[in-house]
Amino acid sequence: MGALANASVPPEHVCPQRPGGDEPRDLASAVREAWRNHARCIGRLHWRSVIVHDRRMCFRAEEMIEQLWVHLKDTFNGGRIKPMVSVFPEKSELGRMRIWNEQVCSYAGYVSTGGEILGDPKNVTLTRRALEWGWSPPRQRSAFDLLPLVYTDENGVSDWRSLPSELVPEIEIVHPDIPSVAGLGLKWYPVPLVCNMALEGRSGNYPLCPFSGWYMVTEIGARNLGDTERYNCLPGIARCLALDTSQEDTMWRDRAMVELNVAVLHSFRSAGVRIVDHHSASREFEKFCENEAKCDREVSADWSWIVPPISGSATSVFHQSMKQTDRLPRFIKRMVID
Ligand code: ARG
Repeated sequence: MGALANASVPPEHVCPQRPGGDEPRDLASAVREAWRNHARCIGRLHWRSVIVHDRRMCFRAEEMIEQLWVHLKDTFNGGRIKPMVSVFPEKSELGRMRIWNEQVCSYAGYVSTGGEILGDPKNVTLTRRALEWGWSPPRQRSAFDLLPLVYTDENGVSDWRSLPSELVPEIEIVHPDIPSVAGLGLKWYPVPLVCNMALEGRSGNYPLCPFSGWYMVTEIGARNLGDTERYNCLPGIARCLALDTSQEDTMWRDRAMVELNVAVLHSFRSAGVRIVDHHSASREFEKFCENEAKCDREVSADWSWIVPPISGSATSVFHQSMKQTDRLPRFIKRMVID
Protein backbone atom coordinates (compact mmCIF):
# COMPACT_ATOMS: atom_id res chain seq x y z
CA MET A 1 0.00 0.00 0.00
CA GLY A 2 2.86 2.39 0.85
CA ALA A 3 3.67 3.49 -2.67
CA LEU A 4 0.08 4.30 -3.45
CA ALA A 5 0.04 7.44 -1.39
CA ASN A 6 2.06 9.38 -3.86
CA ALA A 7 0.89 7.53 -6.94
CA SER A 8 -2.78 8.37 -6.42
CA VAL A 9 -2.42 11.98 -5.32
CA PRO A 10 -0.92 14.30 -7.88
CA PRO A 11 0.41 17.31 -5.96
CA GLU A 12 -1.80 19.79 -7.80
CA HIS A 13 -4.84 18.07 -6.34
CA VAL A 14 -3.80 18.32 -2.74
CA CYS A 15 -6.14 20.83 -1.14
CA PRO A 16 -4.48 23.64 0.74
CA GLN A 17 -5.33 23.84 4.43
CA ARG A 18 -7.31 26.81 5.63
CA PRO A 19 -4.86 29.49 6.58
CA GLY A 20 -4.41 30.68 10.15
CA GLY A 21 -6.60 30.58 13.23
CA ASP A 22 -7.56 27.57 15.22
CA GLU A 23 -10.44 26.59 12.93
CA PRO A 24 -9.13 23.12 12.13
CA ARG A 25 -8.98 22.38 15.84
CA ASP A 26 -12.58 23.54 16.26
CA LEU A 27 -13.55 21.40 13.34
CA ALA A 28 -11.86 18.36 14.86
CA SER A 29 -13.65 18.99 18.16
CA ALA A 30 -16.99 19.30 16.39
CA VAL A 31 -16.39 16.00 14.62
CA ARG A 32 -15.37 14.22 17.81
CA GLU A 33 -18.36 15.56 19.71
CA ALA A 34 -20.70 14.67 16.86
CA TRP A 35 -19.47 11.10 17.02
CA ARG A 36 -19.71 11.08 20.81
CA ASN A 37 -23.33 12.27 20.48
CA HIS A 38 -24.31 9.72 17.86
CA ALA A 39 -27.11 7.79 19.54
CA ARG A 40 -27.02 4.89 17.10
CA CYS A 41 -23.32 4.06 17.33
CA ILE A 42 -22.04 1.31 19.62
CA GLY A 43 -18.38 2.10 18.82
CA ARG A 44 -18.13 5.44 20.57
CA LEU A 45 -15.46 4.43 23.06
CA HIS A 46 -13.02 5.48 20.34
CA TRP A 47 -14.43 8.98 19.73
CA ARG A 48 -11.27 10.78 20.78
CA SER A 49 -9.11 8.93 18.30
CA VAL A 50 -10.89 9.92 15.09
CA ILE A 51 -8.63 11.54 12.53
CA VAL A 52 -10.12 14.61 10.89
CA HIS A 53 -9.11 15.72 7.42
CA ASP A 54 -9.96 19.35 6.85
CA ARG A 55 -10.97 19.47 3.17
CA ARG A 56 -12.93 22.69 3.38
CA MET A 57 -10.87 24.17 0.58
CA CYS A 58 -11.86 21.49 -1.96
CA PHE A 59 -14.35 23.24 -4.20
CA ARG A 60 -13.97 21.03 -7.27
CA ALA A 61 -15.20 17.49 -7.75
CA GLU A 62 -11.81 16.47 -9.09
CA GLU A 63 -10.18 17.49 -5.81
CA MET A 64 -12.94 15.87 -3.81
CA ILE A 65 -12.40 12.56 -5.57
CA GLU A 66 -8.65 12.68 -5.04
CA GLN A 67 -9.22 13.34 -1.35
CA LEU A 68 -11.71 10.50 -1.10
CA TRP A 69 -9.08 8.14 -2.44
CA VAL A 70 -6.59 9.51 0.09
CA HIS A 71 -9.20 8.91 2.79
CA LEU A 72 -9.79 5.32 1.67
CA LYS A 73 -6.10 4.56 1.72
CA ASP A 74 -5.38 6.28 5.04
CA THR A 75 -8.35 4.85 6.88
CA PHE A 76 -7.62 1.31 5.67
CA ASN A 77 -4.03 1.70 6.84
CA GLY A 78 -2.98 -1.76 5.67
CA GLY A 79 -5.87 -3.35 7.61
CA ARG A 80 -5.28 -1.57 10.92
CA ILE A 81 -8.29 0.63 10.20
CA LYS A 82 -8.27 4.12 11.69
CA PRO A 83 -11.55 5.99 12.25
CA MET A 84 -11.49 9.03 9.98
CA VAL A 85 -13.66 11.90 8.79
CA SER A 86 -13.02 14.19 5.82
CA VAL A 87 -14.89 17.47 5.99
CA PHE A 88 -15.62 19.22 2.70
CA PRO A 89 -16.95 22.80 2.28
CA GLU A 90 -19.93 24.10 4.18
CA LYS A 91 -23.36 23.95 2.64
CA SER A 92 -23.27 27.55 1.40
CA GLU A 93 -19.89 26.99 -0.27
CA LEU A 94 -20.43 23.52 -1.65
CA GLY A 95 -22.45 24.72 -4.63
CA ARG A 96 -23.87 21.88 -6.68
CA MET A 97 -21.32 19.27 -5.66
CA ARG A 98 -22.95 16.03 -4.45
CA ILE A 99 -22.15 12.40 -3.87
CA TRP A 100 -25.08 10.10 -4.57
CA ASN A 101 -23.66 6.96 -2.94
CA GLU A 102 -24.62 6.10 0.63
CA GLN A 103 -21.13 4.72 1.08
CA VAL A 104 -18.11 5.16 -1.14
CA CYS A 105 -17.80 1.36 -1.42
CA SER A 106 -20.99 -0.52 -2.22
CA TYR A 107 -22.21 -3.30 -4.48
CA ALA A 108 -24.50 -2.94 -7.48
CA GLY A 109 -28.05 -4.26 -7.44
CA TYR A 110 -29.36 -5.10 -10.93
CA VAL A 111 -33.05 -5.72 -11.52
CA SER A 112 -33.77 -8.28 -14.25
CA THR A 113 -36.82 -8.03 -16.52
CA GLY A 114 -38.46 -10.71 -14.36
CA GLY A 115 -38.01 -8.46 -11.30
CA GLU A 116 -35.28 -10.55 -9.70
CA ILE A 117 -32.34 -8.73 -8.21
CA LEU A 118 -28.71 -9.67 -8.74
CA GLY A 119 -26.48 -8.09 -6.09
CA ASP A 120 -27.42 -5.75 -3.25
CA PRO A 121 -31.10 -4.77 -3.34
CA LYS A 122 -30.26 -1.74 -1.22
CA ASN A 123 -28.42 -0.18 -4.14
CA VAL A 124 -30.93 -0.70 -6.95
CA THR A 125 -31.69 3.02 -7.31
CA LEU A 126 -28.06 4.06 -7.26
CA THR A 127 -27.19 1.32 -9.74
CA ARG A 128 -29.91 2.49 -12.11
CA ARG A 129 -28.64 6.03 -11.80
CA ALA A 130 -25.04 4.98 -12.46
CA LEU A 131 -26.13 3.07 -15.56
CA GLU A 132 -28.17 6.05 -16.80
CA TRP A 133 -25.17 8.28 -16.35
CA GLY A 134 -23.04 6.00 -18.49
CA TRP A 135 -21.41 3.51 -16.12
CA SER A 136 -20.67 0.23 -17.86
CA PRO A 137 -20.82 -2.70 -15.47
CA PRO A 138 -18.49 -5.68 -15.90
CA ARG A 139 -19.40 -7.74 -18.99
CA GLN A 140 -20.21 -10.65 -16.69
CA ARG A 141 -22.39 -9.09 -14.00
CA SER A 142 -22.07 -10.56 -10.52
CA ALA A 143 -23.64 -10.19 -7.10
CA PHE A 144 -20.58 -8.27 -5.92
CA ASP A 145 -19.76 -5.63 -8.54
CA LEU A 146 -18.34 -2.54 -6.88
CA LEU A 147 -20.33 0.51 -7.87
CA PRO A 148 -18.45 3.58 -8.98
CA LEU A 149 -18.57 6.87 -7.11
CA VAL A 150 -21.64 8.62 -8.55
CA TYR A 151 -21.42 12.37 -8.21
CA THR A 152 -22.42 15.80 -9.45
CA ASP A 153 -19.63 18.29 -9.91
CA GLU A 154 -19.38 21.98 -9.04
CA ASN A 155 -20.95 22.92 -12.39
CA GLY A 156 -23.91 20.63 -11.91
CA VAL A 157 -22.58 17.97 -14.29
CA SER A 158 -23.23 14.41 -13.12
CA ASP A 159 -20.74 11.65 -13.72
CA TRP A 160 -19.21 8.53 -12.20
CA ARG A 161 -15.72 7.35 -11.37
CA SER A 162 -14.57 3.78 -10.74
CA LEU A 163 -12.94 3.16 -7.38
CA PRO A 164 -9.23 2.38 -7.72
CA SER A 165 -9.40 -1.37 -7.09
CA GLU A 166 -6.15 -1.41 -5.10
CA LEU A 167 -7.86 0.81 -2.52
CA VAL A 168 -10.65 -1.69 -1.90
CA PRO A 169 -9.08 -5.08 -1.12
CA GLU A 170 -12.23 -7.15 -0.84
CA ILE A 171 -12.41 -10.05 1.57
CA GLU A 172 -13.70 -13.44 0.48
CA ILE A 173 -15.91 -15.04 3.08
CA VAL A 174 -14.77 -18.49 4.16
CA HIS A 175 -15.70 -20.51 7.22
CA PRO A 176 -12.97 -21.91 9.52
CA ASP A 177 -14.51 -25.43 9.60
CA ILE A 178 -17.05 -25.61 6.78
CA PRO A 179 -15.22 -25.50 3.44
CA SER A 180 -18.42 -25.40 1.34
CA VAL A 181 -19.17 -21.85 2.59
CA ALA A 182 -16.37 -20.59 0.33
CA GLY A 183 -18.34 -22.00 -2.61
CA LEU A 184 -21.12 -19.46 -2.03
CA GLY A 185 -18.76 -16.82 -3.42
CA LEU A 186 -19.56 -14.23 -0.77
CA LYS A 187 -17.32 -11.27 -0.13
CA TRP A 188 -17.35 -7.83 1.42
CA TYR A 189 -15.28 -4.67 1.35
CA PRO A 190 -13.08 -3.84 4.34
CA VAL A 191 -14.17 -0.30 5.26
CA PRO A 192 -17.59 1.32 5.46
CA LEU A 193 -17.04 4.91 4.26
CA VAL A 194 -20.39 6.54 4.91
CA CYS A 195 -21.09 9.64 2.82
CA ASN A 196 -24.81 10.31 3.14
CA MET A 197 -24.74 12.10 6.47
CA ALA A 198 -24.15 15.76 7.23
CA LEU A 199 -22.20 17.21 10.10
CA GLU A 200 -24.36 19.78 11.81
CA GLY A 201 -22.19 21.94 13.99
CA ARG A 202 -23.08 24.87 16.22
CA SER A 203 -21.74 27.27 13.62
CA GLY A 204 -21.73 25.37 10.35
CA ASN A 205 -23.41 22.65 8.34
CA TYR A 206 -21.27 20.28 6.30
CA PRO A 207 -23.34 18.10 3.97
CA LEU A 208 -20.28 16.28 2.69
CA CYS A 209 -18.29 14.73 5.52
CA PRO A 210 -17.57 11.08 4.69
CA PHE A 211 -16.64 9.05 7.77
CA SER A 212 -15.23 5.59 8.27
CA GLY A 213 -14.35 3.11 10.98
CA TRP A 214 -13.99 -0.62 11.29
CA TYR A 215 -16.95 -2.95 10.97
CA MET A 216 -18.76 -4.75 13.74
CA VAL A 217 -19.21 -8.28 12.46
CA THR A 218 -23.01 -8.33 12.68
CA GLU A 219 -23.35 -5.38 10.31
CA ILE A 220 -22.14 -7.67 7.56
CA GLY A 221 -22.89 -11.18 8.85
CA ALA A 222 -26.36 -10.52 10.26
CA ARG A 223 -27.70 -7.58 8.23
CA ASN A 224 -25.96 -7.07 4.89
CA LEU A 225 -25.61 -10.77 4.08
CA GLY A 226 -28.37 -12.13 6.33
CA ASP A 227 -31.39 -9.86 5.83
CA THR A 228 -33.99 -11.29 3.46
CA GLU A 229 -34.20 -7.82 1.88
CA ARG A 230 -30.45 -7.78 1.33
CA TYR A 231 -28.27 -10.73 0.25
CA ASN A 232 -30.53 -13.27 1.97
CA CYS A 233 -27.71 -15.78 2.51
CA LEU A 234 -29.14 -17.83 5.36
CA PRO A 235 -30.72 -20.52 3.14
CA GLY A 236 -27.37 -20.99 1.34
CA ILE A 237 -25.48 -21.28 4.62
CA ALA A 238 -28.08 -23.73 5.93
CA ARG A 239 -27.43 -25.92 2.88
CA CYS A 240 -23.69 -25.88 3.62
CA LEU A 241 -24.50 -26.95 7.19
CA ALA A 242 -26.96 -29.62 5.95
CA LEU A 243 -29.67 -28.19 8.20
CA ASP A 244 -33.31 -29.18 7.94
CA THR A 245 -35.02 -26.06 6.57
CA SER A 246 -38.45 -27.64 6.16
CA GLN A 247 -39.69 -26.31 9.52
CA GLU A 248 -39.02 -23.07 11.33
CA ASP A 249 -38.64 -24.87 14.66
CA THR A 250 -35.41 -26.57 13.63
CA MET A 251 -34.00 -23.05 14.18
CA TRP A 252 -32.01 -23.38 10.99
CA ARG A 253 -32.06 -19.61 10.52
CA ASP A 254 -30.53 -19.02 13.95
CA ARG A 255 -27.84 -21.64 13.47
CA ALA A 256 -27.00 -20.41 9.97
CA MET A 257 -26.90 -16.84 11.27
CA VAL A 258 -24.26 -17.63 13.89
CA GLU A 259 -22.09 -19.57 11.45
CA LEU A 260 -22.29 -16.79 8.87
CA ASN A 261 -21.04 -14.35 11.49
CA VAL A 262 -18.29 -16.78 12.48
CA ALA A 263 -17.28 -16.89 8.81
CA VAL A 264 -17.21 -13.09 8.40
CA LEU A 265 -15.17 -12.59 11.56
CA HIS A 266 -12.74 -15.36 10.62
CA SER A 267 -12.32 -14.03 7.07
CA PHE A 268 -11.59 -10.46 8.13
CA ARG A 269 -9.16 -11.65 10.81
CA SER A 270 -7.37 -13.96 8.36
CA ALA A 271 -7.04 -11.05 5.93
CA GLY A 272 -5.54 -8.91 8.71
CA VAL A 273 -8.42 -6.43 8.59
CA ARG A 274 -9.71 -4.97 11.83
CA ILE A 275 -13.25 -5.93 12.82
CA VAL A 276 -14.96 -6.21 16.19
CA ASP A 277 -17.35 -8.89 17.45
CA HIS A 278 -20.61 -7.73 19.00
CA HIS A 279 -19.79 -8.96 22.52
CA SER A 280 -16.56 -6.97 22.67
CA ALA A 281 -18.24 -3.93 21.10
CA SER A 282 -20.97 -4.15 23.68
CA ARG A 283 -18.43 -4.17 26.51
CA GLU A 284 -16.62 -1.25 24.95
CA PHE A 285 -19.87 0.66 24.85
CA GLU A 286 -20.29 0.08 28.58
CA LYS A 287 -16.82 1.44 29.14
CA PHE A 288 -17.75 4.48 27.06
CA CYS A 289 -20.80 5.05 29.28
CA GLU A 290 -18.62 4.80 32.39
CA ASN A 291 -16.18 7.33 30.98
CA GLU A 292 -18.97 9.71 30.13
CA ALA A 293 -20.44 9.40 33.61
CA LYS A 294 -17.04 10.34 35.05
CA CYS A 295 -17.17 13.51 32.93
CA ASP A 296 -20.71 14.25 34.10
CA ARG A 297 -22.11 13.77 30.65
CA GLU A 298 -25.27 11.87 29.95
CA VAL A 299 -25.04 9.39 27.08
CA SER A 300 -27.65 9.70 24.37
CA ALA A 301 -28.38 6.26 22.93
CA ASP A 302 -31.00 4.54 20.82
CA TRP A 303 -31.50 1.05 22.30
CA SER A 304 -32.88 -0.44 19.09
CA TRP A 305 -29.70 0.48 17.24
CA ILE A 306 -27.18 -0.17 19.99
CA VAL A 307 -28.31 -3.72 20.79
CA PRO A 308 -26.71 -6.05 18.24
CA PRO A 309 -29.03 -7.82 15.80
CA ILE A 310 -28.00 -11.28 17.03
CA SER A 311 -27.74 -12.71 20.53
CA GLY A 312 -29.09 -9.43 21.91
CA SER A 313 -29.70 -10.59 25.45
CA ALA A 314 -26.28 -12.25 25.62
CA THR A 315 -24.72 -8.80 25.30
CA SER A 316 -24.59 -6.37 28.19
CA VAL A 317 -26.16 -3.46 26.30
CA PHE A 318 -29.47 -5.35 26.09
CA HIS A 319 -29.89 -5.00 29.85
CA GLN A 320 -29.12 -1.33 29.96
CA SER A 321 -31.78 1.36 29.76
CA MET A 322 -31.03 4.15 27.32
CA LYS A 323 -32.30 7.61 26.61
CA GLN A 324 -32.01 9.54 23.42
CA THR A 325 -31.60 13.29 23.40
CA ASP A 326 -31.03 15.69 20.51
CA ARG A 327 -27.82 17.64 20.70
CA LEU A 328 -25.34 19.47 18.56
CA PRO A 329 -22.97 18.86 16.96
CA ARG A 330 -24.33 15.79 15.31
CA PHE A 331 -24.23 13.61 12.24
CA ILE A 332 -27.58 13.49 10.53
CA LYS A 333 -28.86 11.55 7.54
CA ARG A 334 -28.75 13.87 4.60
CA MET A 335 -30.61 12.43 1.67
CA VAL A 336 -32.74 9.71 0.29
CA ILE A 337 -32.13 9.11 -3.37
CA ASP A 338 -35.45 7.54 -4.36
N1 ARG B 1 -24.04 -0.61 8.67
C1 ARG B 1 -23.30 -0.10 7.57
C2 ARG B 1 -22.85 -1.26 6.68
O1 ARG B 1 -23.10 -2.36 7.01
C3 ARG B 1 -22.08 0.68 8.01
C4 ARG B 1 -22.34 1.84 8.98
C5 ARG B 1 -21.09 2.32 9.68
N2 ARG B 1 -20.47 1.26 10.42
C6 ARG B 1 -19.29 1.33 11.06
N3 ARG B 1 -18.83 0.26 11.64
N4 ARG B 1 -18.56 2.43 11.05
O2 ARG B 1 -22.20 -1.10 5.68
